[in-house]
Amino acid sequence: MKKVIHSPAEMHQLWIELSKSESVLFLVGNLWSGKTTFTKWFAEWLWIDPKKVQSPTYTYVNVYDDKLLHIDMYRLETFEDLIEKWIMDLINEYEYVLIEWPKWAEKLNLEWTKTLYIKKSWDKERDVELI
Ligand SMILES: Nc1ncnc2c1ncn2[C@@H]1O[C@H](COP(=O)(O)OP(=O)(O)O)[C@@H](O)[C@H]1O
Ligand SMILES: [Mg+2]
Repeated sequence: MKKVIHSPAEMHQLWIELSKSESVLFLVGNLWSGKTTFTKWFAEWLWIDPKKVQSPTYTYVNVYDDKLLHIDMYRLETFEDLIEKWIMDLINEYEYVLIEWPKWAEKLNLEWTKTLYIKKSWDKERDVELI
């Protein structure tokens, strides 16, 4: 699925469609493309205060209201067995999982995943592709 999103409202709508079917979503895109914003909208959909949602750049992992697991692997420099196990345990624990910068996505060997590629094309416009 390839699409041009013209506004945050459209992006929001896309996520609502996505959230019905998938539980682990990889978010791929440059800085400021909208990965965290996307996560905020998803949080809202789960009745979580979107203000709580921040990129877990330094903590790697955030959990909101015990419902949504938000991972950011940007600064995760190694991916040893220990980390793999820790992350896998967490992923298995939560119903909804979003991963920004999924560097070792293939190592995780997860069954039900989708990747959303986001690219800023113009102001509020985004090119998105779901694979
Ligand atoms: N259609 C859109 N989708 C996502 N973000 C958008 C959109 N239009 C504008 N923005 C803005 O772009 C910025 C994206 O930042 P952020 O979500 O932190 O990106 P990332 O996590 O990818 O670094 C936010 O300020 C957001 O309000
Ligand atoms: Mg971010």
